[in-house]
Amino acid sequence: MTTKVILDVDTGTDDAVALMVAALSPDLELIGATTVNGNTSVENCTENTLRVFDYIGKSHIPVFEGMSVPMVRAHAQQAISAKGIHGDLLDLPPARSKKQARHAVDWLIETYLASNGDITLVPVGPLTNIAMAIRMEPRILERIPEIVIMGGAHEHGNSTPSAEFNIWVDPEAAQIVVNCGRPIRMIPLDATHRALVSREDCTRLREIGTPAALATAICTERRIGGYDTSQPMHRLGAAPVHDALAVCAIIDPSVVTTKFIAVDVETSGPLTDGRTVCDFRHRSLRSANVHFAVDADEPKFVRMLTEILSRTA
Ligand code: BDR
Ligand code: CA
Repeated sequence: MTTKVILDVDTGTDDAVALMVAALSPDLELIGATTVNGNTSVENCTENTLRVFDYIGKSHIPVFEGMSVPMVRAHAQQAISAKGIHGDLLDLPPARSKKQARHAVDWLIETYLASNGDITLVPVGPLTNIAMAIRMEPRILERIPEIVIMGGAHEHGNSTPSAEFNIWVDPEAAQIVVNCGRPIRMIPLDATHRALVSREDCTRLREIGTPAALATAICTERRIGGYDTSQPMHRLGAAPVHDALAVCAIIDPSVVTTKFIAVDVETSGPLTDGRTVCDFRHRSLRSANVHFAVDADEPKFVRMLTEILSRTA
């Protein structure tokens, strides 16, 4: 049986890989992608998403453009290292297909209200579209079986020492989503930094040579260059592909190890704005609300990517 998913993306080199995994996995049915401001402007994120689908022959998957700024804050922030790791436009041919006319938030609301409660929601960018949809039509919540988020960090952030990028861009939206009362799995940096893809893995993908394998090698090699110079991992020549790990965790939950804990989002601290505050030791009276990934199985992740991206349909 396949799992229906919607990806909410700020495409981005790792969102691109996540989209390809979701579009090509025989275990998932990707019913649409929504775009949001994040790694670059929402217009570029939309163009990049269309580029990915065109390149791998999946242009029939609809793409809906969403929010261009955070929910409350006036400005779209960008991570210091975004240019090196993502660039504004992916190194793929310009899109031939077009975005849909509907706004992403309207489409999310309509789609969930019309659904049987069987579409997993997978936000891998700032949570603006998702929080807007919840605020505009709270009845969608009962139709969302699970939200699998790439975002957050306990050990250390990447936008600031405290905060991970997707949460830091729109902390108010993230606070709404993590407290929405639905089942939530969070794939934070704590897990994604333990599942690196290496230059050797990229060489193997290039040898496989399918459009998805090639596009993944192109995107990941760019990431490795960016990480090696701006935020080196525990070994050089390898980088996390955060958003793809979240999609793989839906296909095979054992690719990450999770703990069920209370998580909330800081929205005001001058040093900790956007931090996911994780109550691993039950220091608050709050009930657990998030299955928070603390580790990942790197060989399994790379194997899954290689197998799924070898596919052409
Ligand atoms: C997250 O931030 C973005 O730059 C990536 O696409 C990923 O979703 C990692 O912090
Ligand atoms: Ca992303």
